[in-house]
Amino acid sequence: MQEFKTLGQFIIEKQADFPYAKGELSRLLRDIGIASKIVNREVNKAGLMDILGNAGTTNIQGEGQQKLDIYANEQFIAALRSGGECCIVASEENEHIIPINSEISKSAKYVVAIDPLDGSSNIDVNVPVGTIFSIYRRKSMDGPAELADVLQKGTEQVAAGYIIYGSSTMLVYTTGKGVNGFTLDPSIGEFCLSHPDMQIPKAGAVYSINEGNYVHFPQGVKQYIKYCQVEDKSTRRPYASRYIGSMVADLHRNLIKGGIFIYPETASAPNGKLRLVYECNPLAFVIEQAGGRASNGRERILGLDVSELHQRSPIFIGSEEMVLAAEEMMVEENQLVTK
Ligand code: AHG
Ligand code: MN
Ligand code: MN
Repeated sequence: MQEFKTLGQFIIEKQADFPYAKGELSRLLRDIGIASKIVNREVNKAGLMDILGNAGTTNIQGEGQQKLDIYANEQFIAALRSGGECCIVASEENEHIIPINSEISKSAKYVVAIDPLDGSSNIDVNVPVGTIFSIYRRKSMDGPAELADVLQKGTEQVAAGYIIYGSSTMLVYTTGKGVNGFTLDPSIGEFCLSHPDMQIPKAGAVYSINEGNYVHFPQGVKQYIKYCQVEDKSTRRPYASRYIGSMVADLHRNLIKGGIFIYPETASAPNGKLRLVYECNPLAFVIEQAGGRASNGRERILGLDVSELHQRSPIFIGSEEMVLAAEEMMVEENQLVTK
């Protein structure tokens, strides 16, 4: 008989890595796993149901909300509320933090930031989408938890990960001791350990960037794209260009095969597009834990100050050697500008 380890079994085993933990973090991860299975069910039958398409509303960032954006948001919040281990949820889909004021939750130790559905413009065309989550310990000692409990640097994350709803559904997470990936076995409804101790190759042969915006990119990024396209056998160039438009899916491929993902700043969007709290920081934590690198082109993502819930940041993330090469070109460009 084939041996397998479920996410639940794995989480309980790993609890021993945290001698003072009383199981709250384990229960929180379990709750996220449960909500993701419900979202997975809906994503999988999206074409059959009246849940495709635009809900006709916009979120705080003025982006059109898809029906599944709202559904996924509700499912994760409900699971975290009933689980009782989380005192605040911060979500891409909500302007403000969502305090959970029930008797059990208001003294809970953890804060969760979430992008409930990443890549949602891909839902209607059956392209992989994802969920991104980040977990912090609350800082305030008493009274209701507050925004400051969410606005912590990425280095303070106690756990982070993502779910990819792809050709199979996977949950990948870290608690700061490496990265492990679990594949959902739909026949038993369990995530099973399929990718233990994931390591991103130090270099790859794929670059992922929305090249349609080329004209707006900083010189350093333009230079790096040209570098990717030059022939050089020793670095496997020219690299392949692969851009799905779901960051989770692009990063998941690059985590397994090696590669770099860039979403840079432009003159009209000086902080890029992606959000620091629930997109960049959790994915940077995962990629660093897998041996990769993540920066805004100049500074480490995880060290950036966080002052706003929906703050944006440029991001250069993936295989270490590739991100380093791109950073070098960003620095050269800065020097040119300041000369
Ligand atoms: P979300 O669906 O959560 O708003 O995120 C979409 C993000 C990210 O997943 C993707 O890489 C990027 O937006 C795509 O943006 P462009 O269409 O500008 O390339
Ligand atoms: Mn997103
Ligand atoms: Mn989203």
